Parts: sequence; C-alpha cells; structure tokens
Amino acid sequence: MTSITRRMALVTTAVFAGVLATGALAEGLPPLKQKATYKAGFAQTEMNNPWRLAQTASMKDEAAKLGWQLVYTDAAGSAAKQVADVNSMIAQGVDVIFLSPREEKPLIPAVMAAKKAGIPVFLIDRNVDQSLAKPGVDYVSFIGSDFVLEGKMAGEWLVKATNGKANILEIEGSTGSSPANDRKTGFDGVIKEHPDMKILASQTGNFNRDEGRKTAEALLQAHPEANVIYAHNDEMAIGAISAIEAAGKKPGKDILIVSIDGEKDGLQAIIDGKMGATVECNPRFGPAAFKAAMDYAKGEKIPPIMTNKDNFYDVSNAAASIANSY
Ligand code: AHR
Repeated sequence: MTSITRRMALVTTAVFAGVLATGALAEGLPPLKQKATYKAGFAQTEMNNPWRLAQTASMKDEAAKLGWQLVYTDAAGSAAKQVADVNSMIAQGVDVIFLSPREEKPLIPAVMAAKKAGIPVFLIDRNVDQSLAKPGVDYVSFIGSDFVLEGKMAGEWLVKATNGKANILEIEGSTGSSPANDRKTGFDGVIKEHPDMKILASQTGNFNRDEGRKTAEALLQAHPEANVIYAHNDEMAIGAISAIEAAGKKPGKDILIVSIDGEKDGLQAIIDGKMGATVECNPRFGPAAFKAAMDYAKGEKIPPIMTNKDNFYDVSNAAASIANSY
C-alpha cells in the first residue's frame, strides 16, 4: 500500500462506517406495509457498461433471494424514458420503487408522482437535485457513493503522482447526472489549490467507452501539451487509453490516467501500467437497497443519506482486488 492509498483508506474508513447516518427521520413520506413479499420496481438508467450490468445483477439477485417480484426497466440512456418507466411502475401498483436517476433535474417529476401515488422511493447510486426534492421528505433515502469525495480522492492522488505539476484533460460523465457534477466539483476543487496544475479542457464522454475514446481523441489533438487524463469512469478511461495509443503515445508514461469505478478492465489497466489509479464506486446495491426497504416497512428510522463504503485502487492493490471485480 502506498502512502497515498493508506491515507485514502483512512479517509474512507473515517467517512464510511458501512453506512453513514446523517440525520432526521422520514417525515410525510408514504408508508410501506409489512408483508411477506413485495412487488418492487427498479428503474435502471442504461445498461451499456459493466458497472450497470453489475448493479442490475445485484438488484435482480437480491429480489430473487428474498422472493420479491421485481418490475425492471432500462431507460436506455433517456431521462424521458426513465420518467415514463416510473409512471408505468406506478400504474402497475408496485409497493416500492428503487430508482437510479439518470440526471439530477428531469427525474424530479417521477419522484414526486410516486410520492403522490403513495409509493415510497429509494434513490440508489445517483441522486436528484436536492433543492427540488429532498431525501427524508420527498423520497425515503439516497443510498450511494459520495461522488464529491471520489473526485477529491482522484485529485489528491494526482497531486502526489505529478508533484503538483500537470496539464490535465477531464473527460466528464453524462451531462446533468449527479456523478458527473459531483466528481467534477471534487476534483476541480483540489486542482484549483495547485497553481502548476491546469485543466486544459473538460468535455463529456457520456460515461461510455466509445464516446470517451472519441472525446479523448479530439482533446489530445487540440491540446498536445496534455500529460494527464482524468476520466469520470473507467469505461471512458479505457476509451482514452485507445485514443492515446492511436496517437502514438504511451498511456501511463506520456499521459497519466486517473479514474473512478474499479471495474475489471480498469484494474487490469493499472496492472498493465497503463492507468495510475481508480477510486472505487461500488455498484452492488441489492443487499443495502432491499434491507433499507424492509427496515422502512418495520418502522425503523431510515437515514436520509446512506453512503457506501468504497476503496481506492493503485498498483499496490489492483492485482489482489481484480478477482472480486466486475
Ligand atoms: O452513477 C455511477 C456511474 O454511472 C458509474 O461511475 C458509471 O460507470 C455509471 O454508468
């Protein structure tokens, strides 16, 4: 374990004690009756990367384990379709809805419609704009990673790895999504503190490999002085590696890469020396999400924000962690 990994581990241990309770009781929310089994909805945002496949598998496995009926929808990357998917779940009379909102603002009407229909909602993985819909008031709880902290951890690793000197290209996640907004906030905040670190350009790669590759290709051409890529997820980082190689440069040497997720291909890229580090964002929500719903039905206090325990991967632990990745 490097010193930076050790420090990150300390930070994460301090912040994540499995789940971080941050306050008040649910108030004015639809109740959930205690029953032997439930009909639950899970509204997924898209299914175009390993992270999403792992998340969906975890939700389906947990539903099957508990004997719950799961109404599953895939919005295929469209916020409008995801709103329609939630409305369809309401019409089908589900007892509870698990929602991974694609973007922060467009999914607010879906959250409010479920509340009005008397169906409790748990936001998992991504959040909505909390000035428009509040956890513990409009939806029961947000369960997920601290995306600002993820961006901050990536930035702090980079400061150490470059001795505070870098020309950075930032490849952002899907525009308007909470991980893209928060990972940018966390990372850019660290970089601002270091006068010799510059973000030359910041552009979306929509959280997918091919768009990440295309964005990296265009940015590398426009900024030949770049020597770092910060990607908001591993899929875009892997796409960037292809773009760097196609440009005749060496990923990990000419251009350092730091990213977020901890998927198998990301850890393999660290082992191969093509990527420097990745901050884990755990996609396995099934056990925590279903437990929260059952606890809610029992009348237990549900924290409005429950933060996942995540790790940090670099050359010191990528090989040992890859078998458990996805
Ligand atoms: O919301 C979490 C992000 O969404 C993951 O980092 C990304 O890979 C996924 O599509």
